Amino acid sequence: MAKPKVFVSRIIPAAGLDQVKAHCDVDLWEERLPPPYEVLTERVKGVDGLLCLLTDRIDAALMDAAGPQLKVISQMAVGYDNIDIPAATQRGIPVGNTPGVLTEATADLTFALLLAAARRIVEGVNYIKAGSWQTWEPETLLGADLTGATLGIIGLGRIGSAVARRASGFDMRIIAHSPETSAEEAARLNVTLVDFDTLLAESDFVSIHTPLTAETRHLINNDALRKMKRTAILVNTARGPIVDQQALYEALKDGIIAYAALDVTDPEPIAPDHPLLELPNIIIVPHIGSASIRTRNRMAEIAAANLLAGLRGEPLPHQVNSL
Ligand code: DGY
Repeated sequence: MAKPKVFVSRIIPAAGLDQVKAHCDVDLWEERLPPPYEVLTERVKGVDGLLCLLTDRIDAALMDAAGPQLKVISQMAVGYDNIDIPAATQRGIPVGNTPGVLTEATADLTFALLLAAARRIVEGVNYIKAGSWQTWEPETLLGADLTGATLGIIGLGRIGSAVARRASGFDMRIIAHSPETSAEEAARLNVTLVDFDTLLAESDFVSIHTPLTAETRHLINNDALRKMKRTAILVNTARGPIVDQQALYEALKDGIIAYAALDVTDPEPIAPDHPLLELPNIIIVPHIGSASIRTRNRMAEIAAANLLAGLRGEPLPHQVNSL
């Protein structure tokens, strides 16, 4: 029997790709950069399955270009704001994602950024490279303490909860704005639920862990930044557009907040000459929250398992939409 035809939009770890190759007739996009939308639209014509990444725009037109035989869309990421889920549901196409396996890695990176911003690690590295380190100085590169400080978590889901567990180990006071979390669930994590404005006003560190939706786009805007402490540090490892980047630039430049540490930008990649990169009080890394070897292998395995289940007409192990 002929193998199902699938398009895989980038080289993914062999842990998943080998599974896909074993069971499918694979058209693999081998370039470093993602396929442009028009190319993707051409290449998906006639495929039974699509394994994609968060860098691919998967909209209704693309699904229609693929054709009615398209049985499954499997994304190697937990976030899926690049996919038109209602359009997939309308067409009876299950969409898979890779939750759970990247929770700890992303929480680790969140804490790495939080600590790096608090203790001005990147500034310290640059200070040495610039030849400025001449002696031990009592008042140079002073940063913020974590112990006793208040961490405000926006979105106490899987990753937000894992960040809260880490913050407990640092003896931080933890508050969260998370309308879908019960007070009991929050209490188990040592977290007090508060409204959004209270979180902004009371937090020394604000960490974003909510998905990007129409409601959360530019949630951190000019207004929100002005409700934060002038000493506050903002960490974003969720999605770039949750923060209004222009407003953030002005807030950091004018001392409205003290520091930001971002794993995600809007757009991605951020241009190397973007004004944000010229500020001393920001750290930006290139969307590496899930970038540990074990995590990326597991994400690839789950993406393959979702794809193969969909091709067999079975429910996906991790399915985003109900059909
Ligand atoms: C995701 O999975 O949504 C992350 O942003 C990348 O791993």
